[in-house]
Amino acid sequence: MCGIVGYTGSRSAQEIILKGLKRLEYRGYDSAGIALSFSDRIEVRKAEGKLLNVEKVIEPEKAVLTTSHAGIGHTRWATHGAPTTQNAHPHRVGHVVLVHNGIIENYQEIRERVLESGRKPQSETDSELFGFMVLDEMEKGAGLAEAVRRAFAGVEGRCSMVVLSEKEPGVVVGVRDGSPLVAARDPEGGAFFASDAQPLAEYVKEVLYLENGDLAVATSKGLEVRDLKTGARVERASSPLEWSPERLEKGGYSHYMLKEIHEQPATLIDTLNALVDRKEALAPFQLVQGKASELLEKATEIVFVACGTSFHSAMVGKYWIENFARVPVHLELASEFRYRKPVLAPGTLLVGVTQSGETADTLAVLMDAKQAGYATLGITNVRGSTVSREADAVLYTAAGPEVGVAATKTFTGQLVALITLAGFLASRNRELTTEMRSSLFSQLIRVPHLMTDFLEENSGLGSSVRKAAVALQNVSGFFFIGRGTSYPIALEAALKLKEISYIPAEGYAAGELKHGPIAMIDENMAVVVLAPRDSWRDKTVSNLEEVKARGAKIVGVGHETDQRLRQLCDHWIPIPELKMGTESIDESLIPFFVTPVIQLLSFELALLKGTDIDQPRNLAKSVTVE
Ligand code: AGP
Repeated sequence: MCGIVGYTGSRSAQEIILKGLKRLEYRGYDSAGIALSFSDRIEVRKAEGKLLNVEKVIEPEKAVLTTSHAGIGHTRWATHGAPTTQNAHPHRVGHVVLVHNGIIENYQEIRERVLESGRKPQSETDSELFGFMVLDEMEKGAGLAEAVRRAFAGVEGRCSMVVLSEKEPGVVVGVRDGSPLVAARDPEGGAFFASDAQPLAEYVKEVLYLENGDLAVATSKGLEVRDLKTGARVERASSPLEWSPERLEKGGYSHYMLKEIHEQPATLIDTLNALVDRKEALAPFQLVQGKASELLEKATEIVFVACGTSFHSAMVGKYWIENFARVPVHLELASEFRYRKPVLAPGTLLVGVTQSGETADTLAVLMDAKQAGYATLGITNVRGSTVSREADAVLYTAAGPEVGVAATKTFTGQLVALITLAGFLASRNRELTTEMRSSLFSQLIRVPHLMTDFLEENSGLGSSVRKAAVALQNVSGFFFIGRGTSYPIALEAALKLKEISYIPAEGYAAGELKHGPIAMIDENMAVVVLAPRDSWRDKTVSNLEEVKARGAKIVGVGHETDQRLRQLCDHWIPIPELKMGTESIDESLIPFFVTPVIQLLSFELALLKGTDIDQPRNLAKSVTVE
């Protein structure tokens, strides 16, 4: 939920930490801070709000602070304590200074102990309390690394910490136990820490994904990893970094979100290339990942667990798998499922869909299921993420780094992984012939071309998406309605719009409107009707008529040549026909065309509202709290 950066070595720590925090700001941005270590002191600077405010604070003293060669930084998404400067990290307790990501569950008990000893924490956070614990251990004679290790034994919860002490200038100690933390050796001497690999891409070619229960000690000479329980040295292999620093820039777009929407055709191709053997013409949708194939071969039922946008892609996946493979699929919100007493059939495969691979609720369900003896599969975009280590097998989407907090291209990457699962299971169950699968596959690999054309046509002033957004910017709210796979896309549309524009919006299965929500409809409401020409189109058009009769402004999203639909709508956003040359495209692939429409519409409305599109208020990209 929060972003951590740490560094020690020969470079300017200030520069590395500020740049690194900028890359991690998507993880939380309600306050930020930096601590820089000198031979005789540690300087801590922090501020409420975005990182920019910390940069302003340190601006007058930048020349001095830049001479430090070790330090830590943090960008916060508040859990314990309001997002104030006082609660911002780093926290100082005596000569100990630390940053923390995660939650200390027994913080009340620790706080009481601290208060009983006559000392008073300066903040309302759970994090600062760990500083007291480290300080106590150092006062008993332990060095910094050993003190952190011993103190951590008294912590319950999922955390990562990075700690400095004025008694040991240049030493930076990191702990990973639940929340993510990567480390890397600096080729110029020294080492880095970060919550994910993105900030390190411009300095190193490989990183160490620390394991839960690892304690890493960085000095100007390098990096050593120890076991948090025993203190014994452990070896951790490095993994190559696949993301080049350029992929983290906006690349000429005004916003990361817009860039990422436009990267979806590439995501589709890259994810397919990563998941299946394209040369195996006779076996379309066969996965290259052996362990995942093994689990899928045995699965009698599938339970998808996910949150937010990933839940919506999983719903599309459910429709696809049931349709193509006739395998029973259940869809569960991770945050509900884990606290119920669900009944799972023997042979059930639990599939966690999570772009970050770090969502606490999704992970908890997978871990509980694994413990209960069920097979688990993760679908994630982040190598080295917790889900990739905890699940029995993992399928990686290849969306590359997604910086905008609102998920766009990772959603498309998930759709690709899910249609691949559907194709795989259809083959296993002999529900689709090889010819049918080959045909679906060859249509799928052509979708990116159509998507690219659509995205180009729908960018800029004259686009139908922009026109609809301008006309509807002042309505009181939006409904998105659809049937079949357009229902989950309607849910995703409403989530996207709420997230980045704060405009009230709801997604409904079109057939559900008359069971209540239609009472909300009047002339101040806009209804976006997702009615592509598929098996559900006519029914959806009937629902359109119902809301039109009650005065709502109608935005139709349908196929270019659907004149009848077009005439019923106040605003019209056409999607490409289900044709490539003379060949028709299976209606199952429609989500790949409707998704960019709803993403661009949300983007345009948010632009008109003037909100912070890449970093919407109150959100964070990776939700590592329950
Ligand atoms: C996406 O736009 C949202 N910010 C959010 O709903 C997200 O999809 C959800 O938190 C799940 O994240 P995950 O895919 O990383 O598990």
